[in-house]
Amino acid sequence: MPSRPKLALVTGASRGLGLAIAEALSAQGFHLILTARSLPALQRLAARLPNATAHACDIRDPESVATLATLVRRRRRLHVLINNAGIAGPSAPIATLDFDTWRQVIDTNLHGTFLITQAMLPYLAKGSVIVNNLSIAARTAFPGMAAYNASKRGLLAFTETLREELRPRAVRVVALLPGAADTAIWEQFWPQAPRRRMIAPATIAQAVAFAVSLPPGANIDELVINPSSGAL
Ligand SMILES: NC(=O)c1ccc[n+]([C@@H]2O[C@H](COP(=O)([O-])OP(=O)(O)OC[C@H]3O[C@@H](n4cnc5c(N)ncnc54)[C@H](OP(=O)(O)O)[C@@H]3O)[C@@H](O)[C@H]2O)c1
Repeated sequence: MPSRPKLALVTGASRGLGLAIAEALSAQGFHLILTARSLPALQRLAARLPNATAHACDIRDPESVATLATLVRRRRRLHVLINNAGIAGPSAPIATLDFDTWRQVIDTNLHGTFLITQAMLPYLAKGSVIVNNLSIAARTAFPGMAAYNASKRGLLAFTETLREELRPRAVRVVALLPGAADTAIWEQFWPQAPRRRMIAPATIAQAVAFAVSLPPGANIDELVINPSSGAL
């Protein structure tokens, strides 16, 4: 009897790293639920990947996340959760950083990842994998990026706690720490950043797909990927 196809949920799948990870998981044969706020971009991606469903979800909104969870419940079991959605916000020193920017970044990156993770926990199959997309900012403080740094450092603590809590369920948790990757996120805080030295999203996706494909007895706890030419 053929084995049931495995299901992966990718947040922030409408562009950038999430889109590339969705493509890489699709190439591995995963069925996909693709989410972000903007439905048209998701629908375009779902149209060209086999067995992919697009569903708009704002990870900051508990009701929106609960609706997404209903969709996952109908599919019964989730095998991969990619917590990728995130924002950087504009760059500003703490002295002038406005509270709204601080709140939006923390709300999206930290609170949103918590909401999605908690909502998906009941559906995670034994041996499944959660990948939390942090950043090297989880370990290195970048001036002008206090909210982003704080959200990602907080997510590292969240990720490590989650890993310990899920060991008895044989659910593995990967902390993904990419360095500079060539996506639209740079427009938010450094539009002139030298893109040609950045990592291609497909390369990060390749590493994520490898981590997800490991046998259930092993986990890549932390996946740090930097441009080989060094920092920008
Ligand atoms: N690019 C890099 O250099 C780099 C390095 C390290 C880590 N990262 C991390 O990688 C992740 C993806 O970033 P990216 O570089 O691919 O940026 P991106 O191209 O701007 O993509 C961000 C994705 O997140 C979604 N998103 C944003 N806010 C959301 C919300 N409230 N609810 C649901 N989805 C939301 C966006 O879709 P909508 O706008 O349609 O919602 C989009 O799909 C982020 O967590 C980022 O911190 C990026």
